[in-house]
Amino acid sequence: MMAGKKYNIAVLAGDGIGPEVMKQGLHVLESVSKKFAIGFEFDEKRVGGIAIDKDGKALPADTLKACEQADAILFGSVGGPKWESLPPAEQPERAALLPLRKHFGLFANLRPAVCLPELTHASPIRESIVEGGFDVLCVRELTGGLYFGEPKYLKEEGGEMLAVDTMIYWEGEIRRIAKVAFEAARRRKGRLTSIDKANVLQNGVLWRRIVTEMAKEYPDVTLNHLYVDNAAMQLVKNPKGFDVILAENLFGDILSDEMAMLTGSLGMLPSASLGEAVEGSRRFGMYEPSGGTAPDIAGKGIANPVAQILSAAMLLRYSCGQEDAAAAIEGAVRAVIRDGLRTADIWTEGNKKVSTEEMGREIASRI
Ligand code: IPM
Ligand code: MN
Repeated sequence: MMAGKKYNIAVLAGDGIGPEVMKQGLHVLESVSKKFAIGFEFDEKRVGGIAIDKDGKALPADTLKACEQADAILFGSVGGPKWESLPPAEQPERAALLPLRKHFGLFANLRPAVCLPELTHASPIRESIVEGGFDVLCVRELTGGLYFGEPKYLKEEGGEMLAVDTMIYWEGEIRRIAKVAFEAARRRKGRLTSIDKANVLQNGVLWRRIVTEMAKEYPDVTLNHLYVDNAAMQLVKNPKGFDVILAENLFGDILSDEMAMLTGSLGMLPSASLGEAVEGSRRFGMYEPSGGTAPDIAGKGIANPVAQILSAAMLLRYSCGQEDAAAAIEGAVRAVIRDGLRTADIWTEGNKKVSTEEMGREIASRI
């Protein structure tokens, strides 16, 4: 344990519900700080729409600098209707989120989709299928594939518009993300499902070949392969049948939204975007809720802060190596749910409806 250590965290709350859930995330980290004698320096910076309004761009230079000097980035969410009419390249998602991922080489995106047994009612899937809850981890490649491949353009050619995106993966890019997935599976139930479209794409052929070859180094992990279309179907049919899912960038984007919806409560799901290990198993990373800015409920004090709070737990685990503190946050979240506290998004008759602030306070008090 690294008691007494101080971590520098770049805090980028962003837009919509970002600032209000971030406030609770920081509140919980302050509790952790007292209980575990871990020091935090929070460097709060603007990002996204608010940065466009105040600084003229979604990712101002001083925000990027603060991130470079930090041990990790705790991110809220960016975007909203106000900035949707800007040219695409200037919009918060493209001008802040994607550059941050690329700049810091955050190739490994971990998206746990956990449906707690107490919250299965929120799932749109039949109770008989999700009964008892489920826990699937999506490991998504985040800096390659169609998102970043060159050439990439939109232009007029011969009197007609032409759009080109390039799907490209180097063997090394597949290996490093597969390694993250195999190691995660090893620490969990030991089952890995690799996703591809090897029946159509050359990318899929290479992906399957490399992952199959690597499986020899992980005899304790059971590997299977699914075409992405089949995986989308199997996930709805039996989410409990999955443990870890490994997917390239776009497939992971799509499947992780599906997985999030299966849990029924976007407000509960955190995520981590990690780079290469910097020291031991510690990685630089950016941690954010999966749910987005939710402009319809922003400022009302009713947003669920759990995703932001669990993102802080992932930050402690992967960027600080503070496993005990991370587990304490996760335990506190499970405890408030067990005690019947619910924000509006997950509330049902017989439970206690609480605000963003109360939820944060109750979790902090259980650390
Ligand atoms: C996500 C989002 C982003 C993505 C968008 C906002 C660029 O959907 O993090 O999943 O496609 O990666
Ligand atoms: Mn997405």
